[in-house]
Amino acid sequence: MTEQKSELELKDDITFERIVVAGDGWRAASRLIHPLEVETFGDQAFNLDEVEDSLQQPKTVLVIAKDGGKLVGFTYAVPVSYTKVKMIDIEREDGGKETAYIYDTVVSADHRGKKITPRMMDLLLPALQKEGFRFVERDTAVDSGYADQVQRHYEQRDLMIKAGPEHTSQWGTQRFMRMKIPTPLRVQNEI
Ligand SMILES: CC(C)(COP(=O)(O)OP(=O)(O)OC[C@H]1O[C@@H](n2cnc3c(N)ncnc32)[C@H](O)[C@@H]1OP(=O)(O)O)[C@@H](O)C(=O)NCCC(=O)NCCS
Repeated sequence: MTEQKSELELKDDITFERIVVAGDGWRAASRLIHPLEVETFGDQAFNLDEVEDSLQQPKTVLVIAKDGGKLVGFTYAVPVSYTKVKMIDIEREDGGKETAYIYDTVVSADHRGKKITPRMMDLLLPALQKEGFRFVERDTAVDSGYADQVQRHYEQRDLMIKAGPEHTSQWGTQRFMRMKIPTPLRVQNEI
């Protein structure tokens, strides 16, 4: 179904993988992540058709986290031109052509607070860059304090382009954010 492209082994046995959804691998990949989506968001979850629709878009990048072979987290980003959720209407310096949108980020309840999400982002962002994206956008929940956390994360790294406005959605108040994807440091002696 899918091909594992990169994996980072960590001492807590959590592994991170970029799943390349080649051919019709999007079907199996959607079935892999959808139960955790439903467990997390209940009635507000994307349905299986919506997840399949996202994962079969060209250039979509999916990253998962596993603990002992069990899925404990996932995140995926799609080209912003594809995005079907309500989007903020903004001027983009690239006209949106080099912009990805992080559609979904989930960690299972028993694995939260272990910084699994920033570690998934450490795989997602370089993979997006390889697909030709230079910018990334997302909407983030305000009431839980998550938007402030994520905003701080990107501001501390001098990657934030725009934070806000806030808007209402089926998931409550969300803050829109647009960020630069960091350029990888050149390895010494790289030619
Ligand atoms: C929100 C959720 C994805 C966070 O995942 P997590 O792995 O538990 O995150 P942690 O609390 O361990 O991570 C905290 C650190 O990661 C950073 N971080 C969290 N999410 C991040 C993101 N998307 N991008 C960059 N950094 C992020 C935070 O800034 C924080 O860093 P700090 O400690 O230096 O301040 C998880 O709680 C979850 O799945 N919740 C239910 C679903 C949900 O609300 N999804 C998000 C919808 S907007």
